[in-house]
Amino acid sequence: MHGATPVAADHPGLVAQRFPPPVRSLPMPELSSHLTTTAAAYDAVAVRYADLVRDGLAGLPLDRSFVAAFAECVRASGAGPVADLGCGPGYVAAYLRDQGRDVFGIDLSPSLIEIARTTYPGLRFDVGSMDALDLADGELGGIVSWYSVIHTPPAELPSYLAEFRRVLAPGGHVLLAFFEAEGGPVTPFDHKVTTAYRWPIDEIAQLAGKAGFAEVGRMLREPREGERFRRGHLLVRAV
Ligand SMILES: C[S@@+](CC[C@H](N)C(=O)[O-])C[C@H]1O[C@@H](n2cnc3c(N)ncnc32)[C@H](O)[C@@H]1O
Repeated sequence: MHGATPVAADHPGLVAQRFPPPVRSLPMPELSSHLTTTAAAYDAVAVRYADLVRDGLAGLPLDRSFVAAFAECVRASGAGPVADLGCGPGYVAAYLRDQGRDVFGIDLSPSLIEIARTTYPGLRFDVGSMDALDLADGELGGIVSWYSVIHTPPAELPSYLAEFRRVLAPGGHVLLAFFEAEGGPVTPFDHKVTTAYRWPIDEIAQLAGKAGFAEVGRMLREPREGERFRRGHLLVRAV
C-alpha cells in the first residue's frame, strides 16, 4: 500500500485480513502480473475495504443519480443483464438491483467476491477479470465499472474497452467512474491499495469512441472533504 491521504476509494487504515478461497470461480486465463498484484492487494485488505465502502453511494447524491440514470438508460434501451465489473464488495450491484435491473458482479479478488456473496446472497458474484470475460458476444445490456479500471495500466485500457464492447448488445450502456486528471495527463498515484491512474475525461471518452461507443453524457464532481481528486463519470452507448 502507498501514501497516507484519506480518499473515499483510497482508504487509510486498511489492514490485511483474508477470506478462504471462494467455492465458485469463473475459468480464468493465466493472469498478467499486474492482475495478480491487484487481486492479492485487494485480498489482503478485503474485510477492511468492504467495511469502508459498505455504504459507498450513501451521502453522494450526484454519484448516485448518475448510477440511477445509467439504470434508466439500460431499461429504456431494451435491457439485457448488467455486469458490475470490478464490483468489489457489491454495493453498486445491489443499488442497481434496487433500481430494477438484472445484475451480477465480477471481480478479480476472491476475498471481495466472498464478502459480496455473503452480504447480498440474492445476487450472483463471480471471480474473473474484466479484460477476458466468460460472456458471449452481445450478451449484456449494461456494464458498470465503478473505479475498477483505475488500476489498469493505461496502455491496456483500449483492450478493456474492446472487451466491454464485445459483450454488449448494440445500444447497451457503459458507466465508468474514475479519478479525473484535472487538466493534467494520465498520471499514476499512490492509491492506498495498489497503484492507480488519474485520467483526463476527454481522453477516456476518445478511447471509448475508438472502441465503438458514443458518448451519452458525463459528470464531474469536485472532491469532497477528505477526498484528493475530482471524480469523473462517463456514460457511453454501444454503436
Ligand atoms: C477501487 S476498487 C472498486 C471496487 C468497487 N467497484 C467499489 O466501488 O467499491 C477496484 C476494484 O476493481 C477490481 N479490479 C481491478 N482490475 C480488475 C480486473 N481486471 N477485473 C476484475 N476486477 C478488477 C479490484 O479487485 C477491486 O475490487
